[in-house]
Amino acid sequence: MPRLAAGKQRKSAKILFICVGLLGAALIADLLWASSTSSSARSFTYKPAFDWPPPKTSSDSFPLPVSSNHSAKVVADKDKKDEFHGRILSKTFADLPGPELKWEKMSEAPVPRLDGAAIQINDELFVFAGYGTIDLVHSHVDIYNFTSNRWGGRFDMPKEMAHSHLGMVTDGRYIYIVTGQYGPQCRGPTAHTFVLDTKTKKWEDMPPLPVPRYAPATQLWRGRLHVMGGSKEDRYTPGVDHWSIAVKDGKVLEKEWRIEMPIPRGGPHRACIVVDDRLYTIGGQEGDFMAKPNSPIFKCSRRNEVVYSDVYMLDDEMKWKVLPPMPKPDSHIEFAWAVVNNSIVIAGGTTDKHPVTKKMILNNEIFQFQLDTLKWSVVGKLPFRVKTTLVGFWDGWLYFTSGQRDRGVDDPTPKKVIGEMWRTKLRLL
Ligand SMILES: *[C@@H]1O[C@H](CO)[C@@H](O)[C@H](O)[C@H]1NC(C)=O
Ligand SMILES: *[C@@H]1O[C@H](CO)[C@@H](O)[C@H](O)[C@H]1NC(C)=O
Ligand SMILES: *[C@@H]1O[C@H](CO)[C@@H](O)[C@H](O)[C@H]1NC(C)=O
Repeated sequence: MPRLAAGKQRKSAKILFICVGLLGAALIADLLWASSTSSSARSFTYKPAFDWPPPKTSSDSFPLPVSSNHSAKVVADKDKKDEFHGRILSKTFADLPGPELKWEKMSEAPVPRLDGAAIQINDELFVFAGYGTIDLVHSHVDIYNFTSNRWGGRFDMPKEMAHSHLGMVTDGRYIYIVTGQYGPQCRGPTAHTFVLDTKTKKWEDMPPLPVPRYAPATQLWRGRLHVMGGSKEDRYTPGVDHWSIAVKDGKVLEKEWRIEMPIPRGGPHRACIVVDDRLYTIGGQEGDFMAKPNSPIFKCSRRNEVVYSDVYMLDDEMKWKVLPPMPKPDSHIEFAWAVVNNSIVIAGGTTDKHPVTKKMILNNEIFQFQLDTLKWSVVGKLPFRVKTTLVGFWDGWLYFTSGQRDRGVDDPTPKKVIGEMWRTKLRLL
């Protein structure tokens, strides 16, 4: 979206997990995780708020995504596992150092939410949808006012609108909302798209996306609404398709979506940002939870995921360019960013799973990407690790709300779904 001066400031090292020499053990790719025992798999669940079952056996496994240079290497030798786990690789191994910041706890959102969406327009943060628990999804908007520092102005979303994993972007008044997951657990996606006039709070339909997607990268660029990547209908398989449609002042100017150049890597949960007429996609993953086959409630079941630090950019040449990667892989950041002083700022997310326990690992860094020098740095630490958090920036303050936080200082695995709102005075490099 265009970064309005007063508008929403919206939105490497590869990690080497193993001390090869210390263990002298054979390294293999982490492809084997799917066949790991159910005892280690137990820890995959999101308990207590989210009871997502672990993968059971290798027969439960799924075609693996494209292998990655960023993926963890794993010690195969089972006998060495505990020793390896206990002594060498701490649970917090993935945390990067960064300045401690002073955080202020603001008033809590009316509901906790995970995988919701947020759009800032001037001093308001519009917060949409999301899971309250794995069996309950929200279908309304809450608004936080950065001037009064209060929540208010709740209104309903259309019944047909997705409840999580939405693509969303604003031009400063209208919010365009595309596709996403419809319903709780790991239900299917909808191709429905909408536009919201934030002045009148009126919704309109737009032409549906050619096919539904989960958590696609979505932006406004050169008068067109662009939608790309995300997961396909099974929630797992990365899509690389890229479509666009001309829009202006909340109106769609064309009958059909145009097919655009595919993106270099598909998959959900990345940040997609336009600054100075350049479109950036950052981080994200391939693979995600998917519905258990034949489950009447579409019960979520974990599958392999590979998280990326990749940064791609589109400019005048209309060719994807590879830019310096993030300091570490980072996913679940689609609404966790703001543009401040010609830098992109990203808060939290998830990184590669723990190579031994396979548990999901959350991030607590605030990353800065300087767009003039293309340099990444860690400019601060969040009060805890959190994924799919919703970020805003106003009057020198960086705010974040919602998402799923860690179990504690020493345990970076996901636990509680939160509605808390926090802020800190940001100082960039
Ligand atoms: C890994 O990196 C090398 C060199 O940077 C590259 O040639 C190769 O295509 C990469 N492989 C994958 C799977 O990304
Ligand atoms: C936010 O709150 C302030 C202070 O109450 C008010 O002046 C301002 O108009 C509010 N913003 C919007 C967009 O309503
Ligand atoms: C952005 O730049 C202005 C002007 O140089 C400076 O006063 C401000 O502190 C900067 N903001 C942040 C968050 O660093």
